[in-house]
Amino acid sequence: MAGSREQFGSKLGFVLAAAGSAVGIGNLVGFPVGAAKNGGGAFLLMYAIFVVAICLPVMIAEMTVGRASQKDPLGAYTGLSNGSRKWRIAGWLSIITPFMIAVFYLVITVWIFGYFAESAMGNLDELAAPGTFSNFITGNSLFMYMALVLGIVYFILQGGVKEGIEKAAKILMPALFAMLLLLVAFVLTRDNALAGVEFYLVPDLSKINAQVVNGALSQAFFSLSLGMGIMITYGSYIDKRANLPSSAKLVALTDTAVAFTAGLMILPAIFSFNPTVDTASLSESSVSMIFSYLPQIFLALQDSIGYFGASLVACIFFLLVFFAAITSLVSIFEVPVSALMSEKGASRKASLLICGALLVLFSLMCAFSFGLVGFFTNFVFYAGADKSFFDVVYDVFYDTILPLNGLLICLFVAYKWRHYAFNQELEQGAPEYQSSFLERYINLSLKTFIPVVLAVIFTNTVLVKYFGIDVVSMLIS
Ligand code: PHE
Repeated sequence: MAGSREQFGSKLGFVLAAAGSAVGIGNLVGFPVGAAKNGGGAFLLMYAIFVVAICLPVMIAEMTVGRASQKDPLGAYTGLSNGSRKWRIAGWLSIITPFMIAVFYLVITVWIFGYFAESAMGNLDELAAPGTFSNFITGNSLFMYMALVLGIVYFILQGGVKEGIEKAAKILMPALFAMLLLLVAFVLTRDNALAGVEFYLVPDLSKINAQVVNGALSQAFFSLSLGMGIMITYGSYIDKRANLPSSAKLVALTDTAVAFTAGLMILPAIFSFNPTVDTASLSESSVSMIFSYLPQIFLALQDSIGYFGASLVACIFFLLVFFAAITSLVSIFEVPVSALMSEKGASRKASLLICGALLVLFSLMCAFSFGLVGFFTNFVFYAGADKSFFDVVYDVFYDTILPLNGLLICLFVAYKWRHYAFNQELEQGAPEYQSSFLERYINLSLKTFIPVVLAVIFTNTVLVKYFGIDVVSMLIS
C-alpha cells in the first residue's frame, strides 16, 4: 500500500485535517472540566507549559515518524526499527489505545447528539433542570441516539463521504469557534462572571499538585490527539515538501485556542449561575458539569431572544460540537480499521465490521456503567473506590496509557531511530529548521527531559490510580 498512499492536496488540507481530529470533545468538554477540577489558573498554566514544552516536540516526532515510514503506526514502529519485536509492542499499543478511546468517546458523542435532538424538540428548559443529565444517561432514549450516531459514523466511513465531511468541517469548525466567542461575550456580561475569569486566569501556584500535573498532561495529550497513532497516520499522508514543524505549530495553536475559549465560557458561567460556589467543591467536577451548565447558558438567553431563539442557539451549538466530535471519532477509529486492513489484509468493509462490532459492544458496556447494569456500574474496586467500566477505560487509556505512548515515541525517535535520520526527514520541506533553536530544543528535549517527565508522571499515575500511593505529593509536602 506504501506506493499508492493517498496524500493531502495542500499544507492547508493537512493542517485542517489534523486540527479537525484535534478539536473535539476534549476541547469543549474535557478541558473546561479539567480546569474547574484542578484549580483553574494552576491547571491552565501547567497545560500551556505542557503544550509548548512537551506536546509540540511529541507531535512533531509523531508526524515525522509517519512521513518517513509512510505506514500506519504498527508498520511505522516495525519498519523504522527493522522489525524489532519490542517496538512492535509499542506499535500495537498505539492501535489499541485509539480503539479504547473511541469507546468512551462514542458514549460522550451520543450524549451530545442527544442534547442536540432534545433541544431541537423544544426541551431546553428540561435539559437545564437539575438531575436531567443523570436521568438522560440512564434512560432508554440513549440507545436510540446511540443507534443513530453509529449509523452516521458507519455511513461516513463506509460511504466514502469522509472527504465531504472534511470539506464541511472547513466551514463548520470556524463557525463553531465564532459561536464560542459570541457565547463567551454573553457569559461575560452576566453578574459574578468575573469571579470565574479570575479563577481561570490567575494561577494559584499553591494548587499545583500531582493530580493537577497529571490532569493537565493527559488532557494536553488527548486534546492534541497524541499518543494514539493519529499524527503518525496523518504524517504518512503528507507530502515530502510540506513543512512539518510549522504545520505542527499551527495545529497545536488552533487546538489550544479552542480549548482556552471553551474554558472562558464555562468557568465564568459556573460562577455566575452559582454565585456561592466554593472553589473546593469544584474539585469534584465531572463531565456531567458541562451537560448541566451548557443548557443553563442557553436558557439564560431567552430573556433577550425568547425561548425559541434560545433553543435554536442551543441546537446549532450542539450540532457544531457534534460535528467536531464526529471528525475526531472518525479519525480515531480510522487507526484500528486501517491497521487491520494493512496488517491482516482485510478488506475495508470486513475491517470496519469487525472493529465496529467490537466498538458497539464495549461502548454499550460503558453506557451501562452509569447505573443501568450493576455489574458494569461496580465493575472493579481499586485505590479505595468502586469503579465502573467507563471509569476503568478512562483511567487506563486516557490517564495512564497516553503519557506512556508519548514516552515510547520519544524513546523510539531519540534512541532507536536516532537523530540523524529524524533531523534529515524533518528538514525536508523546512530548510529553515536546520540548526534552528527549535531543532536544538527538540533534539535535546526528546532525548532528555521529556522522557524523564513522562516517565515520572506515568509512574506516579500508576501508583496513585491503582494503589492509592501519591509519591510526588508526599515528596512535595
Ligand atoms: N483530540 C480529540 C478531542 O480533543 C479527541 C481525539 C483523541 C481524537 C484522540 C483523535 C484521537 O476531542
